[in-house]
Amino acid sequence: MALPDVLSRPLALPVVAAPLFISSVPELVIAQCQAGVVGSFPALNARPSSLLADWLDRIADENGAYARTHPEMPVAPYAVNQIVHRSNDRLDHDMNVIVEHRVPIVITSLGARPEINDAVHSYGGIVLHDVISNEFARKAIDKGADGIIAVAAGAGGHAGTQSPLALIREIREWFDGPLLLSGAIAHGRSILAALAAGADFAYIGSAFLSTVEANAAPAYKQMIVDSTAKDIVYSNLFTGVHGNYLRGSIAAAGLDPDDLPESDPSAMNFGSGGNMKAKAWKDVWGSGQGIGAIRESLTVAQLVTQLKAQYDEARDRLAATVLSNSLTPVT
Ligand SMILES: Cc1cc2nc3c(=O)[nH]c(=O)nc-3n(C[C@H](O)[C@H](O)[C@H](O)COP(=O)(O)O)c2cc1C
Repeated sequence: MALPDVLSRPLALPVVAAPLFISSVPELVIAQCQAGVVGSFPALNARPSSLLADWLDRIADENGAYARTHPEMPVAPYAVNQIVHRSNDRLDHDMNVIVEHRVPIVITSLGARPEINDAVHSYGGIVLHDVISNEFARKAIDKGADGIIAVAAGAGGHAGTQSPLALIREIREWFDGPLLLSGAIAHGRSILAALAAGADFAYIGSAFLSTVEANAAPAYKQMIVDSTAKDIVYSNLFTGVHGNYLRGSIAAAGLDPDDLPESDPSAMNFGSGGNMKAKAWKDVWGSGQGIGAIRESLTVAQLVTQLKAQYDEARDRLAATVLSNSLTPVT
């Protein structure tokens, strides 16, 4: 199946920057789009909700102006994330604003609903739904989503437990539409690996947390730079859903990262009051396992340039290896 128009336009890299609670603000999204990767933010980041329309106007205006003055640069489209959970009391309001602004890509998480997909389709937008299993992927497509974000083990924020290779393979067995791979991708070589595994795009979150444009405390950005996979703890304590967090931030919040209690999933709250039971995301910092590849805090443009150089080098090396392998007779 061909990719929808909005995902077929030229990009610097086959990358969708993932929405990050609190950290994805217009500065970050605009920098991502102008660097040539799809930018995104959770609608809930625009607080109060009346701010959402202003954010969407600003992103469209600044990206439009940049595209006019830099016709040689591909300015990527942007996406808005909707948390489709019953506790999100802004969902209807935010959907109306999304429809009015004809947001090109909507990313839905924590719930798939046909009426959300219908609303986005009414103006020609597309919906990508994030899932942690093949079963949820089937349900999302049955309910009308256009594409799937496969959130594998090691992803930042709410994450699954399945190997990316297993998850992508199972979904690709029956689904030939847009498929994105999420989890621990922070190097150009890993972007290429996602494509080799069967994805159309890599979906990258944590690597952008350390960028200059991200709305994150300097200590958070530095912890991303200083940490590696061993510093990531998987727990459901902070939001009721299992996710990955920085060990250092859990310890700084006065908790023992190696002895965290289990949480009650009914405690989930993604409404206007926020999801702040344990001040998750604000004091306890989310991150995926891929951050060993992040060695310094860069601007988004610098990070995308670095990822592209790594991707190009990996692709050339791999092409040379495959070519020399194909000359070796199989016995
Ligand atoms: C701090 C943080 C906040 C996140 N907030 C959201 C969110 O609000 N909505 C959402 O759909 N995903 C959210 N995610 C998950 C990302 O969209 C994405 O799946 C993940 O970051 C990809 O894995 P990676 O961080 O290893 O690249 C968040 C992730 C992190 C690290």
